[in-house]
Amino acid sequence: MGTGSAAELAGKVAVVTGASRGLGKAIATLFAAEGARVVLIDLKPHWAQAAAADIGHDAIGLGADVSDRAAITAALDAAARECGRIDVLVNNAMWNSYDLIPDITPEIFNRMTGVGLGGIVWGIQAALPHMQSGGSIINIGSMAGRLGSAGALLYAAVKAGVDGLTRSASVELGARGIRVNAIAPSTVATEGVMAILSPEQLERRISQTPMARLGTADDIAQTALWLAGARSGFVTGQSLAVDGGIGHTLQR
Ligand SMILES: NC(=O)c1ccc[n+]([C@@H]2O[C@H](COP(=O)([O-])OP(=O)(O)OC[C@H]3O[C@@H](n4cnc5c(N)ncnc54)[C@H](O)[C@@H]3O)[C@@H](O)[C@H]2O)c1
Repeated sequence: MGTGSAAELAGKVAVVTGASRGLGKAIATLFAAEGARVVLIDLKPHWAQAAAADIGHDAIGLGADVSDRAAITAALDAAARECGRIDVLVNNAMWNSYDLIPDITPEIFNRMTGVGLGGIVWGIQAALPHMQSGGSIINIGSMAGRLGSAGALLYAAVKAGVDGLTRSASVELGARGIRVNAIAPSTVATEGVMAILSPEQLERRISQTPMARLGTADDIAQTALWLAGARSGFVTGQSLAVDGGIGHTLQR
């Protein structure tokens, strides 16, 4: 449990996309430990169900491709039918390909924007009918949306877009009492990242970071917990860097 004596998300229903592994699974695990009924969504139902079984606490796993508006809508409707409503939506799913500019194809462009931006737009749209005042939407952005890096043109564009849509959604939904925030992690050694970055690149990232380590999935999950619950009740439209200070460094 967190800093409070009671479970912070007791009685809440929380949906996490891309939740069968990595940051999504860590967030779902912490939310369940803090009393939430958690619904995990991932591309394949059996991936989401296996993660839900690991988590326990009555967690549910559903299959949906978040870039498919009809599929994510059906999944969120099913989650609300089963759990009564949705209090927290974490838009975490992402498909990523690092390509230098000449190698970017229309297929890569469409998939990255479709999952990384479309998935959030359709997710918010589908969750809203099931959310009440007090609801919290958390979009997982990235420090890559604020800093430049070769091969990350599309990823940076998508993640900068996440910050932008977060601000506008917070303005549109504020009067309904629904908060919308983003988290911008620096590197966390999840399966997804280790498939892309070599051990040498991870070491370089550590040496560039003022706090001299990578982020952990728990660093991100604890921040998501704070944004999900009442302790951050007047915080909306923010993109919170969880980055060990790397966003403020100038290498020399
Ligand atoms: N790990 C990092 O260093 C890091 C840093 C900054 C931001 N992020 C962001 O955090 C989030 C999670 O990252 P991760 O490292 O845990 O990723 P990961 O690749 O380990 O896991 C992503 C999950 O999303 C699922 N997914 C992919 N496409 C989907 C789709 N269309 N519909 C539903 N599910 C889908 C995958 O199956 C997988 O389970 C992503 O948005 C990523 O961009 C990660």
